[in-house]
Amino acid sequence: MGVSWFSKKERDVAGQVDFDHLPRHIAIILDGNGRWAKKRGLPRTAGHKVGAETFRSIATYCRDIGIDYLTVYAFSTENWKRPKDEVDTIMALLRQYLLEAIDTMERDNVRLSFMGDLSVLTEELRGLAAQCNEISGRLTGCQCNICVNYGGRAELVHAAQRFARDCLMGLAEPAGLTEEVFEGYLYSAGIPSPDLLIRPGGEQRLSNFLLWQCAYSEFYYTDVLWPDFSKEELHRAIAAYQCRNRRFGGVSGGGV
Ligand code: FPP
Repeated sequence: MGVSWFSKKERDVAGQVDFDHLPRHIAIILDGNGRWAKKRGLPRTAGHKVGAETFRSIATYCRDIGIDYLTVYAFSTENWKRPKDEVDTIMALLRQYLLEAIDTMERDNVRLSFMGDLSVLTEELRGLAAQCNEISGRLTGCQCNICVNYGGRAELVHAAQRFARDCLMGLAEPAGLTEEVFEGYLYSAGIPSPDLLIRPGGEQRLSNFLLWQCAYSEFYYTDVLWPDFSKEELHRAIAAYQCRNRRFGGVSGGGV
């Protein structure tokens, strides 16, 4: 782990979570699947398979400890540039995941929602996503938002287009546009912004993820590759977050 990324206080509390003050919304960039596979002499797709399992166990754990929202970056608008067999494998894993979720989400009380332009997905995938949305409407547990064909800039353009359309139809007017109104046009409408953004895989960049929503999120980076990400690593991230002093641009206020 890149120890130098942590303050002394964060190192001292490594993994010691205060479960009474958890972040309400955690966002994760699923990164490192390909390198995880390469290190083992396996095809990159093997990393994605294990990565999907890791998502399942982390999502379940987030539900168990009472996280309200978990948002993951599963497939970006740029990921279509990858080799066809890799894209096909990711879509097949997503399909498999949704099929299983439809059978289990009611029992598990985990809600599933999607962010991104789903219009380019197959009709079957779109149908499965709609089924998950429909079942989620009856549930109350942790909401997992899976970002598919998602790009932060594309989301902002899409929101601006929708707002402009509403203006043309007389349903909105430019002078009435505030940050709160604009948020209602994003994929994340109604969802609080992430408190904590975790990026495994060693990179320290946002990669076009939740550009608007992460304005005041606390960032946590780790060298651990996503398929190896464990609940202990999640504890480390949450404990580090709990050491931060969130000021939201102000000057006072204690820790989280
Ligand atoms: C990034 O790792 C990972 C992806 C682009 C795909 C993630 C997709 C899944 C885990 C499968 C389906 C998801 C769900 C939620 C069911 P990378 O390939 O860029 O890794 P690298 O940086 O090591 O090459």
